[in-house]
Amino acid sequence: MNHKLATLIVGAVFISGCRFYLDPGISMKHSENNFIYMPDMVYSQAIKAQEEGGMRYPVKGTIPREKLLYSIPETQDEAAKTLKNPLKKTFANLKRGQEVFNIYCIACHGSYGEGNGGVVPKYPQPPSLQSDKIKGYFAKGEEGRVFHIISKGQNIMPSYATQIEPMDRWKVVMYLQALHRAKNPTAEDIKAYEGN
Ligand code: HEC
Repeated sequence: MNHKLATLIVGAVFISGCRFYLDPGISMKHSENNFIYMPDMVYSQAIKAQEEGGMRYPVKGTIPREKLLYSIPETQDEAAKTLKNPLKKTFANLKRGQEVFNIYCIACHGSYGEGNGGVVPKYPQPPSLQSDKIKGYFAKGEEGRVFHIISKGQNIMPSYATQIEPMDRWKVVMYLQALHRAKNPTAEDIKAYEGN
């Protein structure tokens, strides 16, 4: 047997053996044409997103902090009666409300909620959120109405339930109240800033 023939035979055995030898579990589809040098790097052990076993379940009996413990009533009238803002009026909550408003609401409603957002008039102009109607909601303690509008939508305004967490919705409600105050500061508000 000459050298050339021997090399050929050894080579052929080696190549044909690779597939089986490296990883019998490799599907033919992948290994048909390629010599897989480092199968561990080709076939990652990492769990894919949403894969069974990859998702962590919350500890039994615990409730995520931002989760609502009640369901949102179907009607706005019902929400007006039963839902109250559960959050404290802190600067952090207000700031977050502003952030969420500026992401999701400002485009249509404008920076003070006056209905002059950037997409108007290409999109239908919303009513002003500085209206006596909305101020009246707050005056009557019916902030649940605004929470309901964000959660369920109103006429052509869509629901933001999938984009905005319930607690962030309440923060937006809080921010709307601050916008009213910003547009119509009380004598006290002005005094606080005088001379500063
Ligand atoms: C795509 C544009 C658009 C976006 C974004 C949007 N709205 Fe609206 N919104 C409207 C329109 C249009 C109406 C009027 C709906 C109607 O005819 O009742 C409305 C109505 C409202 C009302 C009721 C006003 C009234 O006088 O009855 C509130 C409160 C409100 N929006 C709050 C929000 C908040 C808070 C956000 C952000 C989370 C938001 N909207 C995002 C378009 C929008």
